[in-house]
Amino acid sequence: MEGHIGLRRRVALPLFMLISATLSFLAYVLLDPVPGGAAASGRLIYQWRRCQQQQSSAGRSGDDNAGGVTAPRTPTSLKHIVFGIGGAAKKWRHRRGYVELWWRPEQMRGHVWLDEEPGGTWPSATSPPYRVSPDASRFGRRVAASRMARIVVDSFEAAAAAAANGTGEEEEVRWFVMGDDDTVFFPENLVSVLRKYDHEQAYYVGAPSESVTQNLRHTYGMAFGGGGFAVSYPAAAELAGAIDGCLDRYRDLLESDERVHACLSELGIPLTREPGFHQLDIRGDAYGLLSAHPVTPLVSLHHLDVIQPISPQGRTPLDAVRTLVNAAHLDPARSLQQAFCYHHDDGSNNNWSVSVAWGYAAQLYPWAVPAHELKFPLRTFRPFWGKPDGPFMFNTRPWKPDDACARPLAFFLSHARNETAGGEAMAADAAATVTEYTRQTTEKVCDKPSFRSAAAIQTVRVLAPKMSPADWHRAPRRQCCKTAWDGRGSVLEVRIGRCRRGELAVSTA
Ligand SMILES: *[C@@H]1O[C@H](CO)[C@@H](O)[C@H](O)[C@H]1NC(C)=O
Ligand SMILES: *[C@@H]1O[C@H](CO)[C@@H](O)[C@H](O)[C@H]1NC(C)=O
Ligand SMILES: *[C@@H]1O[C@H](CO)[C@@H](O)[C@H](O)[C@H]1NC(C)=O
Repeated sequence: MEGHIGLRRRVALPLFMLISATLSFLAYVLLDPVPGGAAASGRLIYQWRRCQQQQSSAGRSGDDNAGGVTAPRTPTSLKHIVFGIGGAAKKWRHRRGYVELWWRPEQMRGHVWLDEEPGGTWPSATSPPYRVSPDASRFGRRVAASRMARIVVDSFEAAAAAAANGTGEEEEVRWFVMGDDDTVFFPENLVSVLRKYDHEQAYYVGAPSESVTQNLRHTYGMAFGGGGFAVSYPAAAELAGAIDGCLDRYRDLLESDERVHACLSELGIPLTREPGFHQLDIRGDAYGLLSAHPVTPLVSLHHLDVIQPISPQGRTPLDAVRTLVNAAHLDPARSLQQAFCYHHDDGSNNNWSVSVAWGYAAQLYPWAVPAHELKFPLRTFRPFWGKPDGPFMFNTRPWKPDDACARPLAFFLSHARNETAGGEAMAADAAATVTEYTRQTTEKVCDKPSFRSAAAIQTVRVLAPKMSPADWHRAPRRQCCKTAWDGRGSVLEVRIGRCRRGELAVSTA
């Protein structure tokens, strides 16, 4: 009882103080003797009330039964995003394939911004609508960089004009997302990432380059434009007021993304890093990199014309990425997510390590590779500039193209489907997928018993429950897997799922 009374007294005193402070504040406002003070105090009251509302809405868990004055905030979705794609009229024919891979005419908003009117008819059924950018030649010689840098602001102004002109039924714009005409976005994952941030604050979200040299040249704190980046509405509004002055001041900066970064730096808005945006400043074969994605949603890929086709399943770079995009339709949140597990059977003494990059590829190592190595990319690629073995912005593992005994057997996605509810081995009514990865048979296989035994496997068949986008709002956690092989057939089965508490990815051999 003592404690209770003490507690009551401790609460009562601050409450009394709060009431008297409020009363004196109101008295101050009402009796304000300063001429013209009424408007100012009105503003004060407004700000004070707004502050109270924000506090009470911050206490809510974002559901609809608030009953307060402010409208409940719906989660960010595709319809809140306006895309601004930097394009060129003469190149659209060659680049549109990348944009049309992800663009959904009925569901998405935004424009391709061109340098001039396109010749011929615009493919409006499949491409985003276009606008011709305002003339940017007044900002110095590098007209293309100035024009591209202005796309955030051109998009902002177009959206503001449309809102002023519109029926009022359109969804509010929360984010402007910039990309190049060869950027491939994974839209559901873009939404997952942006949903984490309060769009009513000024944000600049993206990722630096994979290349140390590129970051040294252009800065580590900049979102590289080809990987794409997102600017929240308030940040775009501030940028709109500043951009022309910035373009005058920074007319010597080479690239458009550098100029946007320079301007946001003046506004004090730093880069919020999201490692799922991929500029892909690499050369050669991205297989090693894409097989070891960080535990974060895959948001974008870029430079697919600069690197080799990402998979032998596609003849052209576009075909090759299409297989990944099609798989992503089945379970976007899981795209490229890595899982690893170990296969050991006493009979044949096999100790295998298996790594799956969901929707893309699988690797089978006929020896035990610890988790802390498997999570790093095999260096199948070179840096954009400089010496072939790096450095990169992440650790890599050596890759010896001429030594078949030093690399895993490689499997690439050949088949992907939804698994119907209650299907084999899956919990009833849990949505799931089956993806199959076929061995790349053009590769020479190492002539050692362990490899000869592993070479029996022609297909890795992966069963995985669908991930929920909400999984990306939990602490990041790589998922676990288990293998099954009857010792004779050509199919190694891998089942992915959430790890049990304390479950380890470790070879038991
Ligand atoms: C505003 O609406 C008018 C009439 O519907 C249209 O001609 C004009 O292009 C619109 N302007 C903008 C900026 O959307
Ligand atoms: C698998 O591991 C066991 C225990 O470490 C070892 O005795 C055996 O030789 C290994 N087998 C192969 C094929 O590497
Ligand atoms: C697979 O399931 C998803 C829903 O999870 C659905 O949107 C998609 O159309 C299905 N795809 C196929 C090929 O059946």
